[in-house]
Amino acid sequence: MTTTTLIGVVGAGTMGRGIAQIAATAGHPVLLLDQDEAALSHAKEGLNRIFARLIEKGRMDTRTAEAILSRITTSTRIEDLSDAGMVLEAIVEKAEVKAALFQSLEKIVAPDAVLATNTSSLSVTGLAASLQHPERFIGLHFFNPAPLLPLVEVVPALQSDKALADEMCTTMRNWGKQPALAKDTPGFIVNRVARPFYGEAIRILEEGAADVATIDWAMTSLGGFKMGPFELMDLIGNDINYAVTESVWTAFHFDPRYQPSFSQKRNVEAGWYGRKSGRGWHSYGEDAVASSPIQDKDLGQAILWRILVMLVNEAADAVFWGVASAEDVDAAMKGGVNYPKGLLSWAEEMGLDRCVAKLDELQQHYGEARYRCSPLLRQRASEGRGFFGQSAGSPEST
Ligand SMILES: NC(=O)c1ccc[n+]([C@@H]2O[C@H](COP(=O)([O-])OP(=O)(O)OC[C@H]3O[C@@H](n4cnc5c(N)ncnc54)[C@H](O)[C@@H]3O)[C@@H](O)[C@H]2O)c1
Repeated sequence: MTTTTLIGVVGAGTMGRGIAQIAATAGHPVLLLDQDEAALSHAKEGLNRIFARLIEKGRMDTRTAEAILSRITTSTRIEDLSDAGMVLEAIVEKAEVKAALFQSLEKIVAPDAVLATNTSSLSVTGLAASLQHPERFIGLHFFNPAPLLPLVEVVPALQSDKALADEMCTTMRNWGKQPALAKDTPGFIVNRVARPFYGEAIRILEEGAADVATIDWAMTSLGGFKMGPFELMDLIGNDINYAVTESVWTAFHFDPRYQPSFSQKRNVEAGWYGRKSGRGWHSYGEDAVASSPIQDKDLGQAILWRILVMLVNEAADAVFWGVASAEDVDAAMKGGVNYPKGLLSWAEEMGLDRCVAKLDELQQHYGEARYRCSPLLRQRASEGRGFFGQSAGSPEST
């Protein structure tokens, strides 16, 4: 694929416009398509604003910005995508709507044009099955905001041509992105591995061990995360975050590890979505009073340690099940959700045997399969090996 290849982006919402910006910045002509004319003008205005800000802040000169913007054209007619060498879809998250779109696209584009989905939660293999030529189909999962977050999960379908994943990893690098190869499993890498960041935080709250402000404080001040779990759920929207948790849990045949919480469900039922509704776990708006955390270092460390160990376990299990390599799992959590460190390198720093001991303690205490230790984590700990080749006993024991 060269920069003269026309890139089609279908869906001009939050993700589509960001992907269009990325491809045009990499030098491609881009056709941004939406069924809704208003969505297209909204997207164009948004892009104009972004580039105006980049110029204002001195991050881009006017000529470059104008050249990028001039490479993005818009349309509501799917036929206009006939010359596209690749079409990325970022429309509504409904399997039947996406399948219908790809069936229409297949009738229009060249036989060797790549078709890609930005789905967060649907099976890429399932979508590929609706195509006559599924070998040209792949998942390219960008993160929001797409122009800022470097990660793209590259997710081949079972039917994808064997060379396509490598080709797409190269294309993503050419677009300035950091690809991570992921197996087509629920939540891919990030939306699976990140579940305990929310789920375990809510458990700690529900047990009454700490309040929302204290848990957020522990994860940011002591853990170095950019946002605490409750602040982040409020930013994402509890409705969206709950739906992702529920979908991952259902897709994993109700594995207790991903079980959604009643308290977040109640928040959603009450319309307490978070920032966008003025109230979530925290309150927002002019008269909102922020509650103060209990800045007890021992309590904070206990909170951080419990959530971190659950995240590490999830990361190790993703490697165990062949979802991605240890390198890609670590890179994905940094590049897709801004974690301060890769979880598996963090585990090596903390000591794998300490992580195993904590998980065993939690499982014994609660008697729940939710806390079962990943076989790979236990194996690597007992062998005194890490995930990246070096020895990884606990700092105390080495
Ligand atoms: N928003 C996120 O944080 C995020 C992150 C990663 C992936 N995703 C995935 O990206 C996709 C898009 O999400 P979004 O948040 O940008 O959605 P959005 O609601 O902001 O935008 C979707 C756009 O698609 C258009 N559309 C719907 N059906 C269409 C069709 N048949 N043909 C043409 N246009 C159509 C709508 O008019 C709308 O403008 C979803 O699959 C979502 O799961 C979203």
